[in-house]
Amino acid sequence: ILETAGEDVLEMFTRESGNRNLAADPSALPWMDCPVIDMSLLLSSSEGEAAEELRKLHYALVSWGSFQLINHGIMESLLNKIRENSKEFFVLPVEERMKYLRAPNDPEGYGNDTVLSRNVPHNWNDRLYLNVYPEDRRRLVFWPQNPSDFRGTLHEFTMKVKEVNETIVQAMARCLGLEDNSFLEEYGESVTIQARINHYPKCPFPELVRASRTHSDASAMTFLLQDKQVEGLQVLKDDNWFKVPIIPNALFVNVGDQMEIMSNGIFKSAVHRVVANSEKERLSVAMFCSPCSEMEIGPFKKLVNENQPPLYKTIKQYGQIFFQYHPKGERPITSMK
Ligand code: SIN
Ligand code: FE2
Repeated sequence: ILETAGEDVLEMFTRESGNRNLAADPSALPWMDCPVIDMSLLLSSSEGEAAEELRKLHYALVSWGSFQLINHGIMESLLNKIRENSKEFFVLPVEERMKYLRAPNDPEGYGNDTVLSRNVPHNWNDRLYLNVYPEDRRRLVFWPQNPSDFRGTLHEFTMKVKEVNETIVQAMARCLGLEDNSFLEEYGESVTIQARINHYPKCPFPELVRASRTHSDASAMTFLLQDKQVEGLQVLKDDNWFKVPIIPNALFVNVGDQMEIMSNGIFKSAVHRVVANSEKERLSVAMFCSPCSEMEIGPFKKLVNENQPPLYKTIKQYGQIFFQYHPKGERPITSMK
């Protein structure tokens, strides 16, 4: 698009860089020394093993706000299938993909992102964004019928991610000395899950635009299946950027703003971005797990006391109202007291 576009379109994509070089050599950044959490150990019947893994999880949540999750119980064949079906969708002729095109002010469906503010740069990405859970929130008009097994695969993947989310937020409650179901109870009637399937085409101007602008997720927790080979995701910690390595079959899990708020700032919502790539395209599948949208989100009552006053306001419909674009990696200030 940019090659033929006028100045105004160019400006829409390059707002993060202000047309300046974003990074002379992003590949020179250090690798994230990524906490790797083994989910089977969190569930281990050996108390010592489980406690050690929980300690690692706690560290990951308060420092990086993210970690790699292995032995999560999702079969490699299903991970491959969701990647393959997604790729098959994105290589369909554009007329076929357009059948699932989102409406102008509605994020759900196929296309680029809705951009609500002039200050927010466009991402160099093509994505399919769907409500996947609870099932009665699905709008099947946006669910591709091509490839023919896409719907079944996404359903299966959703149900598995739902289980993983439950195990992880239960462990997160244990990290804080709370009852296992403390966070799940804040989810209301049921967890809400959205899928965002990202396709990042090759970009002729990787030094000027972002594949995904610097942001934190509005979710409580995000479970990301990265591309099998192509890196690009980066995470901010203490004002420094780190490249996220690919661990085969791992899910990259990050804390989102709603969890930062519920934990009263103990768990850190991870600020992250994806750099553009001129040589390779990239595919990822992000699953956003959040409390049901009718719930109020606020610091968890059991974590607030005289010594730890609430750091955030209690808000409703978080994901709808707040969009977290953090060009300089600010914390989620919008809801801070
Ligand atoms: C995102 O967080 O915007 C996408 C992450 C990824 O594609 O790796
Ligand atoms: Fe994200």
